[in-house]
Amino acid sequence: MTTSPLPLIIDCDPGIDDAVMLMIAFMSPKLDVRAITTVAGNVPLRLTSRNARMICERMGRSGVPVYAGCPRPMLRKPVTAEDFHGESGIEGIEIFAPKAPLAPGHGVGELIARLSAAAPASQTVILSGPMTNLAAALVMAPEIASKIGHLVVMAGGDRIGGNITPFAEFNVFADPHAAAIVFDAGIRTTVLSLDVTHTVRSEPERVASLRKIAGPEAEMMADLLAAGNRLEARWKNGQMAPMHDPSTVVYLLAPEIFEAKPCRVSVVTRPGAEFGRTKVKDTKRGPHHWVTSADADAFFAVIEDLLKARA
Ligand code: BDR
Ligand code: CA
Repeated sequence: MTTSPLPLIIDCDPGIDDAVMLMIAFMSPKLDVRAITTVAGNVPLRLTSRNARMICERMGRSGVPVYAGCPRPMLRKPVTAEDFHGESGIEGIEIFAPKAPLAPGHGVGELIARLSAAAPASQTVILSGPMTNLAAALVMAPEIASKIGHLVVMAGGDRIGGNITPFAEFNVFADPHAAAIVFDAGIRTTVLSLDVTHTVRSEPERVASLRKIAGPEAEMMADLLAAGNRLEARWKNGQMAPMHDPSTVVYLLAPEIFEAKPCRVSVVTRPGAEFGRTKVKDTKRGPHHWVTSADADAFFAVIEDLLKARA
């Protein structure tokens, strides 16, 4: 029996690892990326919006609409992460002007329109950047929360602390007020945090084995991962880059290779050392699920299989 691909909305801020995530989503026959919304994060909105369209074009998916969303966070001053992604936001691939223009309309309006029109609990949404767009959509139209059956986010850290401050992870730190709104909305949410992404890194031998696979996608992914590694190593004592955002899509494709626990996540929004910290309280039923571990070899096997199928 063949099941139809899972329709998906992706909200992102490409970003090297967002770009890798989009590639994986596009390659999988199990997923149907219906729309991409972009947000200011790793680099300003103008660049995240261009970068998303570049990846669509390089993957032969220029038909997927890309809507630009919020150009700044809710309340705090904007922060970016060029140190880890390069000035373009996706160091490692050649920059060009995508043929497809941005889709008309605002990303937040588009989230509201698509979710409003959907059946209850029918939509799967990924957030791989600051959560500004969905938070704004939830403020404007709170009823859309009930349309999301599964929200999958790359956000936060618990056991191992943060990556941008000792306590905070970048996506939450870049807009903690938005993250608080999203986590408060009662939506069933799977959280891929630093606790798990720091255990799945693009070690050189893994990148080398992806590079051996024939085809332009394998080469492009290896180039992106190698660039991510160079930047990570420069700022983080020689460490290789964690597979942050790709973990959202790999989770959807192979949840069995992860372990998770039900919990409730809250966000520290008061100014101070813990600004942007996620706090995880164990619960019986969620609504959040905090991913606690991943099988890193199986994770890369998922990606390798998709690249081999395209070679
Ligand atoms: C997150 O921050 C960004 O720099 C990455 O794209 C990822 O979404 C990791 O903390
Ligand atoms: Ca990101």
